[in-house]
Amino acid sequence: MMRRWLKSSRGELPEIETDELIKIVNLCKVYDTGAVKVIGLNNINLTIKKGEFVAIMGQSGSGKSTLMNILGCLDRPVLGHYYLDGIDISTLNEDQLSRIRNQKIGFVFQSFNLISRTPAVKNVELPMTYAHVPKRLRHERAVALLERVGLGKRIEHMPNEMSGGQRQRVAIARALANEPPLILADEPTGNLDTASSIEIMELFSALHDEGATVVVVTHEEDIAAFTERIIRFRDGKVVSDVRTPKPARQPGAREGAEDGGEHPPVTACRPAGS
Ligand SMILES: Nc1ncnc2c1ncn2[C@@H]1O[C@H](COP(=O)(O)OP(=O)(O)OP(=O)(O)O)[C@@H](O)[C@H]1O
Ligand SMILES: [Mg+2]
Repeated sequence: MMRRWLKSSRGELPEIETDELIKIVNLCKVYDTGAVKVIGLNNINLTIKKGEFVAIMGQSGSGKSTLMNILGCLDRPVLGHYYLDGIDISTLNEDQLSRIRNQKIGFVFQSFNLISRTPAVKNVELPMTYAHVPKRLRHERAVALLERVGLGKRIEHMPNEMSGGQRQRVAIARALANEPPLILADEPTGNLDTASSIEIMELFSALHDEGATVVVVTHEEDIAAFTERIIRFRDGKVVSDVRTPKPARQPGAREGAEDGGEHPPVTACRPAGS
């Protein structure tokens, strides 16, 4: 079996070549709140291949964010295994986990989570700073990413000078900064109006067309309809997993973003190994 090595300044993580970007085996998450134990995830088995575009749905409290936090290495399972790109996450220490988060995962949150009073371009540069990308290169790349999401004219704008849709596009640019193979978004359109929501989903669709693996949590069927596979949760379990293949996109069929127009492709987002 072929092995690659995750780039790192110190310590290396063995990586097994696989087309399964996410593999979850008998995964359980229990929240221990003292008096009571709450089951977040109840024995989940799931595989997501490189290049898939997946929606996670289910009523409030069904375990969607619990799953996303584990997929994003923000939290650990209590039982079971999570393999990300062939790496068994449960075996990693905190340093290795933060390296994985920085290099392999772009996380987009419902509430954007941008750093306030900090220009868009600096927000996008931040993950590259942690990855020790040289200053000039990270600036160039942050500008290119902001152009990619249609915000080329707003690179110096502060988060509070932008609309919700624009903030979320900055957050997506930031998520793409280190060319992660996996993009996770927990209700990315939850705080947006319909027009901005469509813009954001068009952007995720474009990234998926370019080869990215994208997992989006949503409560809305219209948003899930952008994806190619819908996994539904109830009470911490997967209750359905349906593929919804889309017809091939017509070139030029997608509208450009508000002030971005044409989007140059971000080759950065192709899954590792392609
Ligand atoms: N930090 C926590 N401490 C205790 N229980 C938690 C915690 N986080 C989540 N839970 C519980 O775990 C279960 C799953 O919660 P989760 O946040 O994953 O749901 P969700 O599907 O994302 O819901 P929503 O659609 O409202 O965001 C719920 O019963 C919830 O109350
Ligand atoms: Mg949630």
